[in-house]
Amino acid sequence: MLIKRTKSWRLSENDVTPEAVYLDRRRFMTGAGALVGAAALVGTGALQAATDRSLKTLPHAKTAFDPGETPTPYDAVTNYNNFYEFGTGKGDPSENAWRLQVAPWSVRVDGMVDKPGTYALEDLIDYNALEERIYRLRCVEAWSMVIPWIGVPLSSVLKKYGPQSGAKYVAFETLADKDQMPGVKSFFNVLDWPYREGLRMDEAMNELAFLAVGLYGKELPNQNGAPIRLVVPWKYGFKSIKSIVRIHFTDTEPKTSWNVSAPKEYGFYSNVNPTVNHPRWSQASERRIGEFGKRKTLMFNGYEEQVAHMYDGMDLKRYY
Ligand code: MTE
Repeated sequence: MLIKRTKSWRLSENDVTPEAVYLDRRRFMTGAGALVGAAALVGTGALQAATDRSLKTLPHAKTAFDPGETPTPYDAVTNYNNFYEFGTGKGDPSENAWRLQVAPWSVRVDGMVDKPGTYALEDLIDYNALEERIYRLRCVEAWSMVIPWIGVPLSSVLKKYGPQSGAKYVAFETLADKDQMPGVKSFFNVLDWPYREGLRMDEAMNELAFLAVGLYGKELPNQNGAPIRLVVPWKYGFKSIKSIVRIHFTDTEPKTSWNVSAPKEYGFYSNVNPTVNHPRWSQASERRIGEFGKRKTLMFNGYEEQVAHMYDGMDLKRYY
């Protein structure tokens, strides 16, 4: 993401390292390690361990949610990330997120809900009901990927806890632990931790809203938001909050991290919209990771049919 606060953080969209450059550098490091002997191999080993915590295969059902586009290679999905709790560079999460302890994991469910409590991940997620969803992910920074997620519909989890009729929104929080997350410990506080996100209740109940526990058939790597993250494919990627520890039902629009940090740049809704530009760059097109050139950005990221009705009559320029 792009930070405005201090000069050194003031990146433009074009300053972000292109993934080809980043991934090539990484490949070069791996190749060099193989050649120059034991010391370098130790370094390479550490890099591998950082990215590939032994990840269990997750049995899952295939579903109809497939845009019919080539999935972004695993190496890019798991090494080109935004997870500011582990640093602001695209390679920081895959290098640093091995520190995250993902088991045991529990999630606090509270607010306007009949069954509040702190639930173990295994209670929250029915591992016998996992399905795959191949979704486009469009980052507000104007790059995109296609990712085969494994998880369950968000609505199936929320309904279990009995949201009350007064609950109009659902808010989410990420773990914020200085001991495990160098970005949270950092003196340069990029965001006001914990990372927070939220959805209107009808958005949360939409069939596309998804809680992912895996990708490419296996558990989520830490850098992708293990052990549980949100995936909201018609909204900019920052709505898809990682490593969730709290789900809160409320009657008021919840505060969200990027909106608090730069309200003129990042709205609560943040629906992908090629006709509403970011104040500092166009949102009309995007760079699909792994492709040359640019492709046009689609309204609601191509999910218009499933979601447009939720915004009937709303001025999407005002509610960006
Ligand atoms: N969640 C948390 N907790 N912290 C973050 O920095 N970054 C967001 C989102 N979720 C972020 C987060 C942004 S900007 C994007 S584009 C996506 O995660 C990226 O997900 P990926 O790294 O798995 O591709």
